[in-house]
Amino acid sequence: MAGELSPIDKAKFVAAKRAVDFVEDGMRVGLGTGSTAAWMVRCLGELVREEGMRIKGVPTSARTAHLAREVGIEVVSLDEAKWLDLTIDGADEFDGELNLIKGGGGALLQEKIVATASDQMIVIADIGKQVERLGAFPLPIEVIPFGWQTTKTLVEEMLISMDVLGRDATLRMVGERPFVTDEGNHILDLHLNRIGNPRQLALVLNQVPGVVENGLFIDICDIVVVGYGDGRVEVRDINAGTVERDRLDFLEDDNLFKDLMD
Ligand code: 5RP
Repeated sequence: MAGELSPIDKAKFVAAKRAVDFVEDGMRVGLGTGSTAAWMVRCLGELVREEGMRIKGVPTSARTAHLAREVGIEVVSLDEAKWLDLTIDGADEFDGELNLIKGGGGALLQEKIVATASDQMIVIADIGKQVERLGAFPLPIEVIPFGWQTTKTLVEEMLISMDVLGRDATLRMVGERPFVTDEGNHILDLHLNRIGNPRQLALVLNQVPGVVENGLFIDICDIVVVGYGDGRVEVRDINAGTVERDRLDFLEDDNLFKDLMD
């Protein structure tokens, strides 16, 4: 199975695999959403099943909750856990300061709440997610369904005074219908191309009535684990200012891939 993975999937897998080294017995762990985070949940499940590691997982979406239970992780709510030791999640873009765009999978609201309620946030990503400046990936914002078109207009008008290169907002669709988040809201994707001042934009967006939260994660991520298609991983710690390099062997993980095929 490992041989059949695309280079991007291999990169996502090795980042996830390396990141679970940060999880210790007894921890309360925030479980992110998306394809990279799904690898991490499977790796954690393997530790729980095969090494008896005891952790409590707080999922950031219904689909992560489902996967976590399936692989044997004890799932608790954030209110039960109250505070988390660590959150591990993917990202759509990260810059040199480890500021992020998230929400490509539509789970940004729970992801931001869970990451903010954690001592540490580790982002796992393939090298393709690294950018000089945020904004090529459309910035998702979660909006309440009531009056969403008015909210969209207000956001587009507000963007005129922001340092961005594009201003179009599109309602995320699934086929013919608007995408609905786990909280029953919609997502507007903002096509900004380049965000000059992510910190300012994150603050101003949340002032628009109808906007619940935006996908800019500023000063939340502590460590990014970057995966490459050839098995190399880099652990970049923004607080310590360190970069550790490693290489993972796919063959070691045959059992994990076999589990996936079952
Ligand atoms: C979900 C997210 C994901 O972390 C982000 O979209 C990255 O996804 P993937 O790991 O599938 O590339 O923010 O809301």
